[in-house]
Amino acid sequence: MAKHIINEPSRTLMEYRLLPGYTTHETSIDNILLETSLAYSEEGERDYKLNIPIISAAMQSVSGVEMGIELARLGGLAFIFCSQSIDHESAMIRDIKRFKAGFVEPFYVHPDMLIGDVFEISKMKGFNTFPIVDKDHKLLGILTKNDYSGSHHAHLRVSERMIPREQLVVGKNISDIKEANQVLRESHQSVLPIVNSNDQLLNLVFRKDIRNHINYPLELLDEKKRLLTGAAINTHDFMDRVPALVEAGADILAVDSSDGHSSYQKKTLEWIRLHYPGVPVIGGNIITAKGFRFLVEAGARAVKIGMGGGSICITQEQKGTGRGLATAIIDVVRERNKYYEETGKYIPLAADGGIVDAKDITIALALGADYVMMGRYFARMEESPTEKIQISNRIMKPYWGEGSARAREWKSARYYQMKFVEGVEGFVQYAGKLRDNLPETLSKIKSSMSSCGVQNIKEFHDKAVLEIVSALSIREGKVHDIYMPNDSSDYKSDKY
Ligand code: IMP
Repeated sequence: MAKHIINEPSRTLMEYRLLPGYTTHETSIDNILLETSLAYSEEGERDYKLNIPIISAAMQSVSGVEMGIELARLGGLAFIFCSQSIDHESAMIRDIKRFKAGFVEPFYVHPDMLIGDVFEISKMKGFNTFPIVDKDHKLLGILTKNDYSGSHHAHLRVSERMIPREQLVVGKNISDIKEANQVLRESHQSVLPIVNSNDQLLNLVFRKDIRNHINYPLELLDEKKRLLTGAAINTHDFMDRVPALVEAGADILAVDSSDGHSSYQKKTLEWIRLHYPGVPVIGGNIITAKGFRFLVEAGARAVKIGMGGGSICITQEQKGTGRGLATAIIDVVRERNKYYEETGKYIPLAADGGIVDAKDITIALALGADYVMMGRYFARMEESPTEKIQISNRIMKPYWGEGSARAREWKSARYYQMKFVEGVEGFVQYAGKLRDNLPETLSKIKSSMSSCGVQNIKEFHDKAVLEIVSALSIREGKVHDIYMPNDSSDYKSDKY
C-alpha cells in the first residue's frame, strides 16, 4: 500500500476559467502593469524584477544570445542553457552583457587600403560604412556608401575618398542611445562614430537604427545599464560553472533540473549561498508544498513549479511522475504564502512547462504564479538559435527537449545519468520576430486582468476568482456549429 493516495485528480491550466470582476478606468488595459518580482532579495540588495511576467526556458533550441538580448529588451529574461561547455555558456553571457542597443561594433579599415578591396569586404559582409583608424586605433575618417563606387574608385586608396576626421561630428564617451541620438540629430551625418577621450574609436551609431532602439520602454537593465541575463546551471559541475558565469556577468542563476527535491540540488544551493551570497538562484522544479519548503530552506530565492507538462516532455509516460500544472501551482502557492506569513520573505514562483498561449499564462498568474517559463512559445521565434526549414509548404523551426537524445549528445545535461530519454524532438511553426508576437500575448493578458478588475499581478493574486470548467463547457467555448470554408482562423493560437 502506498504511503498516501490522493483521490482527487490533478488539474491542468486548461481546466480553469476566470470569472470577471468590476472593471473601471483604473483597470483599463492602458493602466495595467505587468511588472513582477523575479527573486527574493534581502534588504540592501538589488531588487530583482521583471517588466513582463515571462522568461524563456533554459534549452538549446530556445535560449541563446539573440533570445537573451531581445527578450531582455522587451522586459522579460532568457535563461541561457547549460547543456554546453562552461566556456560557451560564459561567452554567451558575456555577449549579452556587452550588447549596447544601437551601438555597433565597428569593422574598421586602414587608410592605405584600396577601395576595390573595401568593396569586396562590403559585398561579403553586407554593410557599406567603414570607419578608418590608424595603428593606435585613432579615428582618421569614415567611408559611407555615398563616398565610393566599387567600379569607379576601385584603384584609389581609402584615404582619398574618406570624409576626414576634422569634418566629422563624433560622440565622446557616449554610452546612452538617447544622448547619441541628440548629437546625431544636430549633425548632417547618417552615422555617428563614438570615440574615447584619446579619440580612439569605440562604436558606431546609425541614424536609421535609432528609432528602433529607443522604442523599448520595458528594457530590463542592471545598474550599469546593461541588459539583465539569466544563466542555467546543473547539479554536477556547479563548482566550476557558477564562478565562470558570475565572472561573465550573469545576474541570476536557475538550476535546470526536472526534479529539484533532491540532495544534489540542496548541495548546489547551499554551496552558492555560501560562496556567492549575493547571487540569486531559482530552484526547481518541484510540484509539492514539501518540495517548495525544501528548496527555500536550502537557499532558493525563487522556485520553478512543473513536472511532466512540457510540450516536448515524456516524463509522465516514461516514469509515471508528474502533476497537472494548475494543481501543482495551487499547492505550492499555499505553502509560499504560509512561508511568507512565517518569515516575511516573499518567494516568487515560476510556472514552467506546457504553457501554450496567453490564456494559459493568465490562468497561471491568477492561480498565484509570479511569472511563467516557456520553451515552445519562444522556439517558434526568429531569435531562437535554430535554422528555419520548409516542411510541406510551412516554415518550421526544430524544437527538442533537454532530455531528448539530441540534447543529451552534450554529456552533462539535465538527464545526465538516465538510460532512457525524457523528451522528444520535433518542429514548431515559425512565428516571426519576438517583438511582433509578444505585444499581442501581453495585450491578451492585460485584457483578461482588466475584465477581472485588477491593475497588477499582486492584485490579480488577491482578487482573481477561478472556476473549474467541464469538458463540455470547454467545447462550448470554442467555435461551434458554423461552417468556415477557409478555417485558418488567425485568432487561434498556432497548433504546432
Ligand atoms: P514548453 O514551454 O511546454 O515547451 O515546456 C518547456 C519546459 O519543459 C522547460 O522549461 C523544462 O522545464 C521542460 N523540459 C525541457 N526539456 C525537457 C525534456 O526533455 N523532458 C521533459 N521536460 C523538459
